Amino acid sequence: PSANIGVVGLAVMGSNLARNLASREGNTVAVFNRSPERTQTLTGEHPEAGFVASESYDDFVASLAKPRTAIIMVQAGKGTDAVISELVSRFEPGDIIVDGGNANFHDTIRREAEISPTGIHFVGTGISGGEEGALNGPSIMPGGSVESYETLGPILASIAAVAEGEPCVTHVGTDGAGHFVKMVHNGIEYADMQLIAEAYDLIRQGTGKSPAEIAEIFAEWNTGELESYLIEITAEVLRQTDAATGLPLVDVILDEAGAKGTGAWTVQNALDLGVPTSGIAEAVFARSLSSKRAQREASVDLPGPSTEWSVAGAEADAFIEDVRRALYASKIIAYSQGFDEIVAGAEQYGWDVKKGDIAKIWRAGCIIRARFLNRIAEAYADDPSLVALVVAPYFRDAVAGTQEAWRRVVAIAAQAGIPTPAFSSSLAYYDGLRAPRLPAALIQGQRDFFGAHTYMRVDKPGVFHTLWSGDRSEIETTPSSH
Ligand code: 6PG
Repeated sequence: PSANIGVVGLAVMGSNLARNLASREGNTVAVFNRSPERTQTLTGEHPEAGFVASESYDDFVASLAKPRTAIIMVQAGKGTDAVISELVSRFEPGDIIVDGGNANFHDTIRREAEISPTGIHFVGTGISGGEEGALNGPSIMPGGSVESYETLGPILASIAAVAEGEPCVTHVGTDGAGHFVKMVHNGIEYADMQLIAEAYDLIRQGTGKSPAEIAEIFAEWNTGELESYLIEITAEVLRQTDAATGLPLVDVILDEAGAKGTGAWTVQNALDLGVPTSGIAEAVFARSLSSKRAQREASVDLPGPSTEWSVAGAEADAFIEDVRRALYASKIIAYSQGFDEIVAGAEQYGWDVKKGDIAKIWRAGCIIRARFLNRIAEAYADDPSLVALVVAPYFRDAVAGTQEAWRRVVAIAAQAGIPTPAFSSSLAYYDGLRAPRLPAALIQGQRDFFGAHTYMRVDKPGVFHTLWSGDRSEIETTPSSH
C-alpha cells in the first residue's frame, strides 16, 4: 500500500479534490470511480499527480496505507450508502471514511451511529467552494470523532483555503455537525444570492441601467464593506453578453431558479428548532415562486401600482447608495439568523460548535466568503456568548448607519411593486427584535379565548386564563412557579 489518502467518486468535485490532495507535499492519492473511464481520463490528463488508480474496491482499499483514509465524493443520497457499505466491508478498526458530499446531516448522524460500533470512523464533512475551491482550496467543515480528526485534520488543512495564515478547516463537532454547518452555510448562500438579486432588480427597474452598467456598480461595491465572492461573480455574470443573440446573458436565461435541497433543509430544520431564519426562508421560497410558471403566467395581468416609478440623475445615485446599504444590513441579518440556527442545532444535537471558528473557516474558500466574516469572527471572539450578531457593537453600528436607507428601499419597493422578499423580511425581523412590546400579547389573548391556552402576565408570576365564555374574570390555572 502506497497511498495515504484515497478519493472515491471522480466527477468534477472529486477529481479536483484528488488533484488538490496530490499537489500537496507528502500526499500520495489513490483514486477510484465506479466507471473506470473517469479514472482513466483523470490519470491520463494529470500524470503529474502520480495517482494510484484502481478499478476495483479491493485494489483501491489495498492501495491505502493504514490507517486507511478515503474521501467519498459522490452525489448525496443512495449512492453514498452504496459506497460506504463497500468500504465498510473492507476497512478495519481505526480506518476513516469521509463523506465530502452535501449529505443531509440526519443521514450523517445515522451513518455514523451504524458504523462506529465497527471501530471504523465515519466523518461527514462539508466542503464548500465549488469546482474551483475543490481544486485550489475549499473551506472544509468536518464532523465525526475527535480521534479521527487527529489523522484527518492535517490532511484537510493541507488542501484547505487559507485566510490570514490560517487554514479554513476546523473540527466542527461530532457526528453530523459538519454537514449541519455546511447546510446552514448553503442557507446563508441562498439568502445572500437572493439579496443580491433583489438589489440588481431594484437598480435595474428604478434607474433603467443596463446589466453591464450594473456590473460596474457591483464591481465598485466589491471594493468596500460588501466585498465578497458572490458580489464579485455577480458583476461577472451581469457583464456577460450572449454570443447567439448579442443580448446580456442575464436577459436570455430563463428566470426559474433551481435548487438541490440544502436551502430547504436549512429552513425545515430551522422550523424544527424554532429559529426564525426568515431571510433564508424567503430566499428558498423566492426560488420556488420563480419556478411556478403556470401561476406566474396566470398572474401577469394582476393589478400593480397605478403610477410608474423611476429615478434619474443624482436621485438615482442616492437610490443606488441606499440599495447598497440595505443590502449590507439585510446581509448582516441573514448571517445573524444562520448563526442562530447553528447555535440551536449545536444545543439540540450536543455539539460543541465554536461560532468564532466557523466564521473564521468561512473567510476564504467557500461560496459565502466575504470581508465582513472577519468582523463576525471578531464579534464572537470578543464575546463568545453573544446572543445575536446584530447586537455586537460593530454590527449594531453598521445597521445604525444603514437602517434609514434600508427603510427607504423597502418602502419604495412596496410602492413600486418590485418584489423584495429578503430585504423586507430582514427589516421586519430587525424591527421585531428591537420592539420593546410585540403584538404576541394579543396572539396569546386570542389563543386563550378560543382554546384556553393560557397566558402569563407582565406584572406577576403564574399562568392565567380568562373565563371568556363565563363572567370574564381571570383565574390562575397552575400554582405560581415562585
Ligand atoms: C458550495 C455550494 C455547493 C452547492 C451549490 C448549489 O458551498 O460549494 O453550496 O455545495 O452545490 O450551492 O446549490 P443549489 O443547487 O441548491 O443552488
